[in-house]
Amino acid sequence: MRTFLRVAGFLRPYWWLFLLTFAGNVLLGSIGAVTMAVIEPVLGTLFGTSTAAATTTGAAASLKERVFSLLFGWLVAPSPAATLVHLAWFIVGLFVAKNIIKYASGQLNVRLSEWVIRDMRQLVFERLLKLPVSFFNRSKAGELIALVTSEVTTMHSALMPFVVTLVRAPVEIVLLLALLIAISPLLTLVALSTSVGTLLLIRTARHYLRRYSQRMQHAAAQYTSTLQEGVAGIRIVKAFGSERRLVSRFASDLERYVRSAVKLSAVSDLVPAIGETLAIAALAVVLVVGGHQVFNGTLRGADLMTFLFALFAIMAPVASLVGVPGQVQRGIVAAERVFAIVDSADRLSDGTAECPPLVRHIRFEHVHFSYDEQRAVLEDITLELPRGKTVALVGLSGSGKSTIADLLVRFYDPQHGRILYDGTDIRTFRLESYRRRFGVVAQDTMLFNDTVAANIALAKPDASAEEIERVARLAHAHEFIMQLPQGYDTLVGDRGVQLSGGQRQRIAIARALLADPDVLIFDEATSALDSESELLVQQAIGEVLRDRTALVIAHRLSTVRDADVIYVLDRGRIIEQGTHAALLAREGMYATLYALQTEGVRL
Ligand SMILES: Nc1ncnc2c1ncn2[C@@H]1O[C@H](COP(=O)(O)OP(=O)(O)O)[C@@H](O)[C@H]1O
Ligand SMILES: [Mg+2]
Repeated sequence: MRTFLRVAGFLRPYWWLFLLTFAGNVLLGSIGAVTMAVIEPVLGTLFGTSTAAATTTGAAASLKERVFSLLFGWLVAPSPAATLVHLAWFIVGLFVAKNIIKYASGQLNVRLSEWVIRDMRQLVFERLLKLPVSFFNRSKAGELIALVTSEVTTMHSALMPFVVTLVRAPVEIVLLLALLIAISPLLTLVALSTSVGTLLLIRTARHYLRRYSQRMQHAAAQYTSTLQEGVAGIRIVKAFGSERRLVSRFASDLERYVRSAVKLSAVSDLVPAIGETLAIAALAVVLVVGGHQVFNGTLRGADLMTFLFALFAIMAPVASLVGVPGQVQRGIVAAERVFAIVDSADRLSDGTAECPPLVRHIRFEHVHFSYDEQRAVLEDITLELPRGKTVALVGLSGSGKSTIADLLVRFYDPQHGRILYDGTDIRTFRLESYRRRFGVVAQDTMLFNDTVAANIALAKPDASAEEIERVARLAHAHEFIMQLPQGYDTLVGDRGVQLSGGQRQRIAIARALLADPDVLIFDEATSALDSESELLVQQAIGEVLRDRTALVIAHRLSTVRDADVIYVLDRGRIIEQGTHAALLAREGMYATLYALQTEGVRL
């Protein structure tokens, strides 16, 4: 119920629209019943069945008659021919009104729906981007995408029509039921008792419907995820020839989906079939019982006909109302999934203080960190990043270098120990203002589908053309950018011009420099490059590093020789530290690695 109210909360900004739709549906619901109620007595009068003939229908009937003549007496003209014309006009008018209302409320409803779904998607995406990096490690990208697209649609499409049904159907049911009772309470009782079977049937069916639709939703999430993996990882898939395995996984996901879809429709199509049979059986019983009454003279023929029509008319709204809980169930399941992520509790606590420029140093003090709270990735890391100096981290792959960089920009918080920024624990700063102090260049750079200029200006969208050009020159990117078809206005990214790895890295450096960060972080910025572009990027880095605070991570030791301090990491621990010369002299791990690498170059 709480989930439902929360979904309903999305309607709040559009309450006036909702009220209009609501009113429209109440009107629509009544029109059908009113038509039914009016036509019968008029026909009765028209074809001369005298009102006096109805005897045992009692007080209700006479009340009905009185109300009727009060409201619709004008329909009955002196001559039958004129009455007929009145009736014809009345019916046409009523249906014109009905369709105008139906059209208008349908249109309002579409707007309401689309607006609400837009708000939901936007909220989910907004919240998703606010979640900590650790959340994205655990979740599959495909499932997250499914969340913003299909889950939101499911929750919406399952809950919104419900609002309409819940308004219109009860109005119809109440009015038609009143008509039925007014004609003959006895027959109404007969009809109701034969409907009990239908209700039982629907209850059982609902159980299976829920089960199969859950399986279907689950299978759909799985094949979306496989699809996403295949598309995002296409290079790996092709390089390792795993197309066939992926295809067969996709096939078995689809198979599961199809199986539950077929079962679902097997049950859901059976329901109306059996339901209609049972309903017709009820109708037949009414026909026999009512027919007897007509023969007895206790019921008028016209009344029996109207009763049967009304009984028939009441079935549709009853059926739609009965279908509601199953549908709502599906919507609630989807909504719960969506809200679970939107409210995901494990977010980093945000500080309140604004982060000032770096004056002295950043220090890691006895930092311990683990991704899964079990296997330690960093143990007792103590290091210092003094202002204006270059600090390098080296070590084998998997030793924890990138993790240190991630802790530094607060993608995660350490389990023990602290990170101090000019002596202040970094957790006291507002995340956004703290992260603004850093510029990061990672191993592989993602360019957004936008112009070169916009890609550089990521951290400072209002940067002037001059500023952008200045950092592009610093990053040795200006020359190649000018050779692109539209220079800085060239579209790049996967829908634009494809840039080489070296070019992308130089754009990344320009991007990192633009906001003039206090600290630059290079995480293996050149390791994905061939040696020629590596040299270019290396030159660019060398130049920007002068007088800047920087953390440089590299596995090619030639790139860190000039660093002020080098920390050597091994399985999450710092095992050596010092300048290049000092570390060589120690003849420890660094010296060994360096010897291996320079020999490799000589070979
Ligand atoms: N997102 C993650 N979730 C779980 N474990 C991770 C994650 N990222 C890295 N690790 C593990 O942490 C260790 C250190 O990784 P990393 O810091 O990337 O090393 P490096 O950058 O030195 O190659 C590795 O054992 C790696 O498997
Ligand atoms: Mg790394």
